[in-house]
Amino acid sequence: MSTATLSLDGKEYELSVVVGTEGEKGIDIARFRAESGAIMLDPGYGNTGSCESGITFINGEQGILRHRGYSIEDLAEKSSFVEVAYLLVYGNLPSTEELNRFGYRLTHHSMLHEDMKKFFEGFPPSAHPMSVLSTMAASLSTYYPDGDDEDDVDLNVVRLLAKLKTIAAFSHKKSIGHPYVYPRNDLGYVGDFMHMMFAVPTETYEVDPLVRDALDMLLVLHADHEQNCSTSTVRMVGSSGADLFSTISAGISALSGPLHGGANQAVIQMLEGIRADGGDYNKYIEKAKDRDDPFRLMGFGHRVYKNFDPRARIIKKTADKILSAIGLDDPLLDIAKNLERIALSDPYFEERRLYPNVDFYSGILYRAMGIPTNMFTVLFAMGRLPGWIAQWKEMRDQKSRIHRPRQIYIGETARPYVQIEDRG
Ligand code: SDX
Repeated sequence: MSTATLSLDGKEYELSVVVGTEGEKGIDIARFRAESGAIMLDPGYGNTGSCESGITFINGEQGILRHRGYSIEDLAEKSSFVEVAYLLVYGNLPSTEELNRFGYRLTHHSMLHEDMKKFFEGFPPSAHPMSVLSTMAASLSTYYPDGDDEDDVDLNVVRLLAKLKTIAAFSHKKSIGHPYVYPRNDLGYVGDFMHMMFAVPTETYEVDPLVRDALDMLLVLHADHEQNCSTSTVRMVGSSGADLFSTISAGISALSGPLHGGANQAVIQMLEGIRADGGDYNKYIEKAKDRDDPFRLMGFGHRVYKNFDPRARIIKKTADKILSAIGLDDPLLDIAKNLERIALSDPYFEERRLYPNVDFYSGILYRAMGIPTNMFTVLFAMGRLPGWIAQWKEMRDQKSRIHRPRQIYIGETARPYVQIEDRG
């Protein structure tokens, strides 16, 4: 094993270097504080690895994304969301028999306990579906407490994958005052979700296979992304021994932020704002470049990708195909394409290596599918769920210690207590 040498206060410390299967190097500092008394400081963890993982590989410089060794391009084109969920959670592509059994289990656990419907009645219609999703995900632990053996754990994994889409659809129905539509066992995972989202008791609803397949692919594209903010949250919360449902609830909450999964909703709101303001995208490019202006080009930039986000490329291509197939001419797509065209040739974005990320075009597709804007991040959470679960399982299998980062204290040094009458 190679080593790195660090010199501090005239003393040298030899640290071992971990090399991953793709040649990535990590300096193991696990013993450094015990030996030197010093910690490594890395606000936002931009340069620090929290774990070794065999689930997802990203090369941000080359725009590579693979799940268990399979490229995102291959999975988006040839696989399905249920199959990718199996791959992430269990580590390999399933056989036909394994896939059918997995699909059967997801289908037959998609109903919620009837009493859970009462929870929805307490939310105001204006409740954001991500808040509902996070709350309802955590509430599943009151019905399905953590089991003792791995079969119990696996059953709760299946329950969560099966029920989260039902919770998502119910939260939408609640927000528009429509009756809940129950899952149907004759529809596949995505078709069932669409039926629960869009069907009404007064008429039959036919799942459009074009939209279903595009939505399936969008879920695949969101399935995992190594140690992003919400996944790191899942590992952090899970490391305390919290149950699966509470742990995933924390991940959903982290994803809701506009700098993370909430960006897909923020992109559409940004594009609608630009359109309402006359469509002058050059004005907004200048605003994004102005350090004194809080405006950011939502859907642009990424902590890891310093090249194109491969998922954005695939989504942009699909958006063109779907919009032309359903004959929808969305003016927001033109604004998005012009923003991208101008930004990619602007030194400000080039110098900072800011490219469209997964959220830049996904909202355009969701709109074309009739998904309401406030549900976009819920779709992201549905897609990311198998990734969160896989990372949580890996963290448990690795018998990870409870996550407890250190800090550098910069506050007041010791001082005596002052009675209130003496405080002046
Ligand atoms: C996701 O981690 C993941 O894998 C996440 C994700 C996943 O699948 O889990 O890929 C999903 O969260 C995608 C990102 C969605 N968020 C957005 O689109 C929000 C807009 N983007 C930014 O806020 C930002 O780019 C982040 C949050 C994505 C990344 O932030 P970083 O890595 O902390 O970068 P930074 O804020 O330090 O920016 C570096 C520079 C700064 O300028 P300077 O201070 O050097 O002058 O780039 C600028 C920033 O001001 N910048 C932008 C910008 N993003 C960064 N300027 C204008 N518009 C932007 N979008």
